[in-house]
Amino acid sequence: MKVVCLPGDGIGAEVTAAAQDVLAVLAPDLELEDHLFGGAAILATGTPCPDETRDACLAADAVLLGAVGLPQFDAADVRPEQGLLAIRKALDVYANLRPARQGTIDLMVVRELVGGLYFGAKGTRDDGTVFDTCEYHPSQVERIARRGLEIARGRRRRVASVDKANVLETSRLWRRVVTEVAADYPDVELEHLLVDSVAMRLVTDPEHFDVILTENTFGDILSDEASALTGGLGLAASASLGDDGPGIFEPVHGSAPDIAGLGIANPAAMLRSTALMLDHGLGRPEDAQRLTAAVDTALEEAPTPDLGGTATTADMTAAVVEALAR
Ligand code: NAD
Ligand code: IPM
Ligand code: MN
Repeated sequence: MKVVCLPGDGIGAEVTAAAQDVLAVLAPDLELEDHLFGGAAILATGTPCPDETRDACLAADAVLLGAVGLPQFDAADVRPEQGLLAIRKALDVYANLRPARQGTIDLMVVRELVGGLYFGAKGTRDDGTVFDTCEYHPSQVERIARRGLEIARGRRRRVASVDKANVLETSRLWRRVVTEVAADYPDVELEHLLVDSVAMRLVTDPEHFDVILTENTFGDILSDEASALTGGLGLAASASLGDDGPGIFEPVHGSAPDIAGLGIANPAAMLRSTALMLDHGLGRPEDAQRLTAAVDTALEEAPTPDLGGTATTADMTAAVVEALAR
């Protein structure tokens, strides 16, 4: 089985190297292949997602992605983040699963990933007005709603569908289609909540939530918030899945320019994303469980600075490899 690795920029490359070290021990039969992506690809080729990278991803069994983003491109016309959107679209990975667990909190953000504001019409009018448009087709809502409801069946059978239906047309469409799809899932309890109130309730009553089903932009924001409740971005993993074809497995965090190059990034989010890849992408649930347990052990034994410890990325990676060998 072939895994295409897109290390990307900043700590993305650092945590991808950690995942590769761990996979070399845990699953040495996997074929790992690095490809240019993000800012690194702009510097080498002028574009953040070269055709060659896209074709390799399409032909892979799974894609493991670090993170993209370099401050030098923040104001540029060609930006690393455009490559991320392009590869998500090319693989049509519309369902982004972002689990958040700690103590009594156990929720999963199911985020629509290839529609909404990110992909609607955008531009500049003659008078200088700049616009991004939020657009959803009913079929885009239908397939993510179905995915969210299916996922709830494997959990506590509760879905909070999050929108801004008191203001937005796309949210009213979202609410109508989610309600229609939910008729096929009478065993799942569905509620509709407004995004501002969910942002508050996540802080005051996070145990309320099981599956949070939402559109692209709201899911981006709420998933960082959920990660902050459960140990921070250093721990938060995600799986981006389509109906068939390879998934993209990527931490929730970015390239973290503030700590890039210091060797102190927490690799746990990437290693947990690697576990999601082994389970959902490659059909190797036992390897996934072994890796998850080893990461939990390493988090106890060698916590990185974001968790209040002093371990480096290499220290925690070594602790994972040791735990796997036990
Ligand atoms: P960020 O997630 O990179 O960092 C936010 C904060 O969390 C920083 O203080 C960082 O040091 C810390 N942090 C994040 N991951 C960590 C880890 N594994 N270990 C320890 N600390 C960690 O978000 P940002 O600073 O807003 O964005 C930086 C760049 O990353 C931007 O260019 C942005 O577009 C990009 N970005 C990319 C992705 C992606 O590729 N999937 C995701 C988010 C942001
Ligand atoms: C994420 C990131 C990306 C997003 C950016 C870098 C395009 O923040 O994966 O959460 O908004 O989807
Ligand atoms: Mn984000």
